[in-house]
Amino acid sequence: MTTIINGKELAKQLTQQHKERVAQIKSQGASVKLVVITVGQDPASKVYVGQKEKKAVNLGMEFEWVRLDEEISQEELHQVIQSYNQASDCHALLVQLPLPDHLNPNLVAEQIAPHKDVDGLHPYNLGQLARNQAQLIPCTPKGIMYLLDQYDIDLTGRQALIIGRSQIVGTPLSLLMTQADATVTLAHSKTQNLEDLAGQADIIVSAVGKPNVIPAAAVKDGAVLIDVGINRQADGKLVGDFDYESMSDKASAITPVPGGVGPMTVAMLMEQTIACAIQQQNLELD
Ligand code: GUN
Repeated sequence: MTTIINGKELAKQLTQQHKERVAQIKSQGASVKLVVITVGQDPASKVYVGQKEKKAVNLGMEFEWVRLDEEISQEELHQVIQSYNQASDCHALLVQLPLPDHLNPNLVAEQIAPHKDVDGLHPYNLGQLARNQAQLIPCTPKGIMYLLDQYDIDLTGRQALIIGRSQIVGTPLSLLMTQADATVTLAHSKTQNLEDLAGQADIIVSAVGKPNVIPAAAVKDGAVLIDVGINRQADGKLVGDFDYESMSDKASAITPVPGGVGPMTVAMLMEQTIACAIQQQNLELD
């Protein structure tokens, strides 16, 4: 029997908790506000930020979507970020990626005040993550760890293969899984023997953004498969990096696309926004 890891359902349960938390904060005369900055017209970003807005509003938070022109300079973007760093009513700030090619996302991440960096991408927060002291963690890896925990999937001594070394998913996830006592292999575009590595792995996470990243035949029976990929097929259907049908036969547990990891990313963003608001307003909640 293959377990379908239902991120949508877990996110629904968290929505309830988050609504209560936001209501408690507001009942103390305080507020919760998330600000998201987009630059240009990336269509996928519009969809993702729309989902974030919908959820934030549904929870009773304040939400501001700052839409900046494609042509904005690095310096001008930094100035916009600085203004939200200084705004005491903004508790959580993120700059949606990808940015246009002329903008350097690393320099952008350095501009965000670390205590408002709800994406966990500032060097301070990434450093704290490497030291196992993190308070703000990139939301997708945090969501994956939450899914595994909720489904009682213990990582201790297990072989975990992560495919994709991005700063926002693969690299921070490799730290979190190592801290959870897995033996982690971080594979990437130059990895030579991906199928051999897949055959040894108890848990495989793909965050590549390419369908059929490995064939089902390469996967060990009973592996846990976590799919971070979101790929739109020619017919408009959304699929992950794993071929869901063939992989489901081999896996002991698998995340669907959509409805697996995606809803957890948004849920963790809300959780960390609430944490930022509590911390910055020195609130004491039960
Ligand atoms: N682009 C796709 N996912 C994310 C995310 O979680 N945070 C940011 N900032 N950009 C993204």
